[in-house]
Amino acid sequence: MNNKDYKIINHEYDVVIVGAGGAGLRATLGMAAAGLSTACVTKVFPTRSHTTAAQGGMSAALANMGEDTWQWHMYDTVKGSDWLGDQDAIEYMCREAVPAVIELEHFGVPFSRTEEGKIYQRPFGGMTTHFGEGVAQRTCAAADRTGHAILHTLYQQSIKHKAEFFIEYFATDLIMEDGVCKGVMAWDLTTGDLHCFRGHQVVLATGGAGRVFFSATSAHTCTGDGSGMVLRAGLPLQDMEFVQFHPTGVYGAGVLITEGVRGEGGFLTNSEGERFMERYAPNAKDLASRDVVSRAMTMEINAGRGVGPEKDHIYLNLQHLGKEVIQERLPGIAESARIFSGVDVTKDPIPVLPTVHYNMGGIPTNYKGEVVTLDGDDPDSVVPGLMAIGECACVSVHGANRLGSNSLLDIIVFGRAAAMRAAELIEKHTPHKPLKDGTFEALLERFDKTRNASGSHSTASIRDKMQRTMQKYAAVFRTGESMAEGAKEMQKVFDSFADVGITDRGMQWNTDLLETLELENLLAQAQTIINGALNREESRGGHAREDFPDRDDEHWMKHTLAWVDDKGKVKIDYRPVHMYTLSDDCEVIPPKKRVY
Ligand code: FUM
Repeated sequence: MNNKDYKIINHEYDVVIVGAGGAGLRATLGMAAAGLSTACVTKVFPTRSHTTAAQGGMSAALANMGEDTWQWHMYDTVKGSDWLGDQDAIEYMCREAVPAVIELEHFGVPFSRTEEGKIYQRPFGGMTTHFGEGVAQRTCAAADRTGHAILHTLYQQSIKHKAEFFIEYFATDLIMEDGVCKGVMAWDLTTGDLHCFRGHQVVLATGGAGRVFFSATSAHTCTGDGSGMVLRAGLPLQDMEFVQFHPTGVYGAGVLITEGVRGEGGFLTNSEGERFMERYAPNAKDLASRDVVSRAMTMEINAGRGVGPEKDHIYLNLQHLGKEVIQERLPGIAESARIFSGVDVTKDPIPVLPTVHYNMGGIPTNYKGEVVTLDGDDPDSVVPGLMAIGECACVSVHGANRLGSNSLLDIIVFGRAAAMRAAELIEKHTPHKPLKDGTFEALLERFDKTRNASGSHSTASIRDKMQRTMQKYAAVFRTGESMAEGAKEMQKVFDSFADVGITDRGMQWNTDLLETLELENLLAQAQTIINGALNREESRGGHAREDFPDRDDEHWMKHTLAWVDDKGKVKIDYRPVHMYTLSDDCEVIPPKKRVY
């Protein structure tokens, strides 16, 4: 088919948000409420976005259930990030958490309640009071379905403010001219039409790329489409080597069992019935940060103290909590455990295993949501017209390791921040200048080439190889030798995509083509993860190298930037960590050796 044969339907808005998870919807709502003409383009129905799977809650120092301050929250987040987080952004997030969660309550999120009618808050890993001294109850919860509750409320509010939704539209590429983002191309899966959405700001809120790996808590839709578009636009991703393994994915299925279980008093045991976290983290125990717990579980299994016939997993016990607490606070995971492992959690422990859960890395941004890149000597150069928020972004508030319940917080605070920034930057209803001739050529060529790909490898077989390679070589523990082998394997997998073949050439609901375009996004990100991990010769947060077991602040307290060319070759450079805060209320938190 000639590119000219593709008809493109044009739309003009003030802002275009790509993705309708929590971050996308919070931005959509904020921008529409500010009077900007707002389009939200999403490949899944908004309330089916992956945020719906977020269970345990959203952190905010409300002090509803004990003393708390945003400064303690900030301290925990910097420490949890293993000093790779940008402290200005972390301060912003922890301060704004309080008004952001109260706003959600006013929008109608049905949070669980205390006896006094305040928002219920549970303990979560790494969340402390008095700078590490006590346990904070900071995580605001709607039972164990907090993401679901937030997502529904934000969608309702966005509709109320007349945001326009383009549902089951797959964004294929950014429209860039001279380094400025002018809009986004999208494919309507239902009609098969191609659309050009112009926006003075395009906001990527496309989530993480958990599906790079074989076993992940992420939905099958988590294919990092925004990050793939960014790489194709010649922009870098940041800190992609940092992948979080959640300690408690259901063994075999990968489905999430919330950290809220341990927040409510659940604990892990090995084959000897020992609460082994007491050895690894005598203070925080089962509520140590996720990198610590995942490593401890892996060490127990490697030492032959795993449970089950293969001794290859660990037990999560919550039987002692009693039926009442489980029904009130943890109904969702009781159901998941029954369905995915056949366990009645009031009687038996859940078999669990560390499972890929979250990308700490992503599209680099400042705390206003604007995408930044390295431009000559300027490491914070804003890419005009482009924003990124949520898991696809790297603000970087999570650094090398994210604390549980800081993700729902991140998506809400930075979705809101992006809306405020867009309202500052954009004069409502400013007309768009015409695009240059030929702007769509390369984008259509790629789309058409993939649609007509007739090579010998199926999409599913390449995806399977990628996922198994990444699972094997970019695991909880890593070594240079095995990652060098993994990087070679991944290059072969990447190369095999040149010979991909699909069978459906149609334009309507062509899932064969959709999965192939998603795979292309995943492959580029897999390259940034494995090559970034091989390059970073230290251990920090979620990146644990057996050959470089210590954190090395002298050489590695810096963000990795990774560009990927069309042959899968990765170029690496760096940005400095922001070791400054926004206000005098919080001093810079200097690196310390980690003590748990
Ligand atoms: O364990 C959980 O409920 C997940 C929360 C999170 O990743 O923030």
